[in-house]
Amino acid sequence: MSRLRLGVLISGRGSNLQALIDACADPGFPAEIVRVVANVPGAAGLDAAARAGIATATVDHKAYPGREPFEAALTAELEAANAQLVCLAGFMRLLTPGFVAHWRDRLVNIHPSLLPAYKGLDTHARALADGVRFTGCTVHFVRPDCDTGPIVIQAAVPVAPDDTPDTLAARVLLSEHRIYPEAIRLIATGRACVEGERVVVSGAGLPDAAVNPKI
Ligand code: GAR
Repeated sequence: MSRLRLGVLISGRGSNLQALIDACADPGFPAEIVRVVANVPGAAGLDAAARAGIATATVDHKAYPGREPFEAALTAELEAANAQLVCLAGFMRLLTPGFVAHWRDRLVNIHPSLLPAYKGLDTHARALADGVRFTGCTVHFVRPDCDTGPIVIQAAVPVAPDDTPDTLAARVLLSEHRIYPEAIRLIATGRACVEGERVVVSGAGLPDAAVNPKI
């Protein structure tokens, strides 16, 4: 079985990266991580990658005169590793349309809300301020506008009456760690395909939770 070659971009903690590392540790998982690149020197996720024996690089955006040369360096790292799919995992830099076009339909992101609700930052505080009963997380292919693009998978997460942004973030994060590997599996096995501006998942019915409320 040839495995899809993933490049992962991070800015910090790297817990979603760790979830992908754990999934890829299963030889039956249809993808492998070939390079982890951080834009923040010393990002904690770099240590997790190194512990797993994955080649890492730091491309510090502050060392470049603008976004284009910074992104050219990112692409050089990813292409040197022959990455076939680029996964943003807590990567906190806006990307130019040029970078997004270069990696079109080969670039995915995880975002801590049920897109298209709560794009951008402080998603959990805004959800709490609105009094929503459910929020969640989304894995999507990346398009030029921030936090937009064809949706691969989502998970809904209930909001508790006494939630703070931190407690809600922690609950959503558990679902992020579940759906990011699942999204990669769907893409790597060819089950999730971009058609127009939507992702069609072959063989998909209702999400599990809709069929069995106990899940
Ligand atoms: C995650 O919650 C991820 O969804 C979010 O940053 C966190 C990174 O955590 N990403 C965004 O907000 C991107 N718009 P991690 O470094 O532990 O994976």
